[in-house]
Amino acid sequence: MRIAVIGGDGTGPEVVAEGLKVLKVVAEKVGFKYELKKFSLSGDRYLAAGGDPNSQNIPVIHDEEIAELRTFDAIYLGAIGHPKVAPGILEKGLLLRLRFELDQYINLRPVKLYPGVWTPLKDKGPEEIDFIVVRENTEGLYSGMGGVQFKGTPHEVATQVLCDTRMGVERAIRYAFEVCRKRNRKKRLTLVGKTNVLTFAHGLWYRTFLEIGEEYPEIEKDYNHVDACCMWFVKNPEYYDTIVTDNMFGDIITDLGAMIQGGMGVAAGGNINPQSVSMFEPIGGSAPKYTGMNVINPIAAISALGMLLRETGNHRSNAKWVEAGDRVELAVMATTPKMKSQAAGKMGFSTTEIGDMVAAAV
Ligand code: IPM
Ligand code: MN
Repeated sequence: MRIAVIGGDGTGPEVVAEGLKVLKVVAEKVGFKYELKKFSLSGDRYLAAGGDPNSQNIPVIHDEEIAELRTFDAIYLGAIGHPKVAPGILEKGLLLRLRFELDQYINLRPVKLYPGVWTPLKDKGPEEIDFIVVRENTEGLYSGMGGVQFKGTPHEVATQVLCDTRMGVERAIRYAFEVCRKRNRKKRLTLVGKTNVLTFAHGLWYRTFLEIGEEYPEIEKDYNHVDACCMWFVKNPEYYDTIVTDNMFGDIITDLGAMIQGGMGVAAGGNINPQSVSMFEPIGGSAPKYTGMNVINPIAAISALGMLLRETGNHRSNAKWVEAGDRVELAVMATTPKMKSQAAGKMGFSTTEIGDMVAAAV
């Protein structure tokens, strides 16, 4: 397995190092070889190369680097985000650019409460909090279409276009039905949208959902408006099995999901192109204030590594990689009960100690 590693900014490199520590052990255990190549992509590099902190004047990632990233089996990303760079520059210049150019059209985000992890939901435990969100990752409000006119005047007009395509919606929905079939749990796929207001775009989602759903007779076709879905996440998370939703709503509900599964210290996700190269990341940010202190929680990054192994193994039909991914998840589940908290600095252990514990559990 050839893996491109982007440590990125802030605590990104520290948590990625713990994931790689676990990779070394699990690869030996299961018996496969791997190769790593580090890419020094970050806000620091952008600034050092003369990047303007307030508006993008040079590329955050070069075309040749994107071309090279395409040749790997998977990409392992720590975090991108720099306190001295204005919001949007690194996000658009790197993260969103990679998602679009590598056509990573799915953002897969499990919401699973691991044993011993505190959830803010009263009377809910690992039995009740275990579902997965399939977020469309290349369209919707993230399309970048729109613009402003008469900027800075009282007549300013701003449009931000929600652009969905039949092809994009269909492939996300089909992927979600497959995820739900494979999970083989409640056999319920919930489409989350806002069909009562976004009648055009989410009308397309709804029609496509029912149409593709005919190919999956054993799966219940369920629908929630996004606002109601937020209520049920808090009140009845056990209702959910697999959720499919658009890019913007997926962004929002997965932060809520991350909180009920124990916070940004544990939540991981994958930007997926099943036919090409996918990118896996802890979904919390670069946490600049904890950089270099050995206090940040590496569990999310280690879980992202587990997802990387399992999903890449699925896409490339490599049973050893899948087994390695499953082992990493089990090792994480054996470690979380020993931790005092999932919050940075309150775990009862350092970043590197948690990495050692997961590696030992593997
Ligand atoms: C995420 C992040 C990104 C998004 C930002 C950093 C552009 O919030 O991965 O959820 O909105 O998709
Ligand atoms: Mn987000």
